[in-house]
Amino acid sequence: MELNKAPLFSSPRIVYSNFLHLRDPRETVKKIIDDLLSIPRTISSTLLYDDVGSKLFQQITRLPEYYLSRIESELIREFSQSCKNFLHNLDIIELGSGDCSKISIILDSIDPRNFHSICYLPVDISSQSLKESAEVLVAKYPEIRVHCIAADFLGDFFSLPHKRKRLFCFFGSTIGNFPSMQRVELLRRVSSQMESGDLFLLGVDMVKKVNDLEKAYNDHNNITASFNRNILNVVNSIIGSNFNPLLFEHHAHFNRDLCCIEMYLKAQKAMAISIPCIGSEILIDRLETIRTESSFKFTVDVISEDIKAAGLKIDLHRTDSSNWFSLFQLSKEAS
Ligand code: AVI
Repeated sequence: MELNKAPLFSSPRIVYSNFLHLRDPRETVKKIIDDLLSIPRTISSTLLYDDVGSKLFQQITRLPEYYLSRIESELIREFSQSCKNFLHNLDIIELGSGDCSKISIILDSIDPRNFHSICYLPVDISSQSLKESAEVLVAKYPEIRVHCIAADFLGDFFSLPHKRKRLFCFFGSTIGNFPSMQRVELLRRVSSQMESGDLFLLGVDMVKKVNDLEKAYNDHNNITASFNRNILNVVNSIIGSNFNPLLFEHHAHFNRDLCCIEMYLKAQKAMAISIPCIGSEILIDRLETIRTESSFKFTVDVISEDIKAAGLKIDLHRTDSSNWFSLFQLSKEAS
């Protein structure tokens, strides 16, 4: 992962702030090794998103089985059409911006005469995704300014410039990749930056039939399997281990007790993984698993509790006809 490289941009309309270099790389290595040695073995899902993983995730969002992006895009389009008056003289902050496809739906609905009054601030862990999408956006939307922020929005502390009204966006149900305490912490971070008049759009994947959920994480083209296995390449590049991703099988199933899809890698044979930085090996048995992601699915009651606990309130709840996905429009609870 390119942690310290500040990208060069072709346009003076793009600014770049990097908060990733504030991390101590030794802590990152220690955390990965501790997680691999824990029972059950885990790898943090944030490591799914190196440059290769980010590209594979973009492919996932276009898969027919992965309904989340398709439905959410429709709900964002509805928001954009009904809130046109809000969309000028505005800072738009997007957490986990990825390829910026969702924000383009909002930007497409803005009157081009107002482009000069818009600053878009994407926050993402992948410098490469930030760079590529910023270049695309300034070419597509003349006069819009882009301030890229490379950061892990839960791990890194960063505060945002605040001059005028703001729209915060956290799409894709990425909130579901965090357990309840971290979700509230994350929402609180956003809420602490909000003032009255600011809006927050939160995309959330809802509970549905297990078969429909599991299909979304076990696609026919095995793109999700490649995305999952790639995490071992990322681990190898950070801790110098010698995992062979091809010796692991992708598994994703719904855990009814925790109400989440859990993604695993299952060892197809017994192996000894060398970890040179601690001068030791990790012995993995045949069929042993490493959990790489939890993706929580919500009821309105559960997500409403998290939202309330973070000092936010729901102004509007948009959903599709099957209630598969929800887009919540939030504002800060008056104190
Ligand atoms: C980014 N996140 C919301 C995705 C999810 O559905 O949990 C990541 C993903 N994992 C497998 N497919 C997509």
